[in-house]
Amino acid sequence: MTRAVYPGSFDPVTLGHLDVITRGSRFFDEVIVGVLQNSAKSPLFSVEERVNMLREVTEGIDNIEIQSFDGLLIDFAKSVDAHIIVRGLRAVTDFEYELQLAQTNKAVYPDIDTLFLVTSVVYSYLSSSVVREIASYNGDISKFVPECVTEKLKEKFDK
Ligand code: PNS
Repeated sequence: MTRAVYPGSFDPVTLGHLDVITRGSRFFDEVIVGVLQNSAKSPLFSVEERVNMLREVTEGIDNIEIQSFDGLLIDFAKSVDAHIIVRGLRAVTDFEYELQLAQTNKAVYPDIDTLFLVTSVVYSYLSSSVVREIASYNGDISKFVPECVTEKLKEKFDK
């Protein structure tokens, strides 16, 4: 049984994340999406909102589970008995940070390996922060996020 964790802030989940989740689900028996609870980035959506959106958009994929976590990623991976971390790689700009993350995690927990999925080219420019910014100016984000997320972003910024 191969179980992988796909960690992130998911503030909010984008079509790029969903692409990685969908493709990742074909490589592993189970993929646990780990939503970082205490992000230093002071998230727009609460962890419950982020988890619920992820649950809604992954409803049709059997081997995906959504959980939140706090603290170190390797401790979360250990707690769910996963030895693989999946991360999406968009462009060379992601590489340095991702390499540092992967190598640090490996140094502190040698039983963990990080596997990168190269993001589909249509989503290579996409990030949650860009989506939040466009939504904050009432721009059209329907190409970037699932429909239910568009609605949730509208609700946030209409307040
Ligand atoms: O979607 P993000 O914000 O790029 O995801 C970053 C994440 C959640 C993978 C990373 O910040 C993380 O693993 N945070 C938990 C704390 C930790 O384990 N840090 C790694 C030590 S280098």
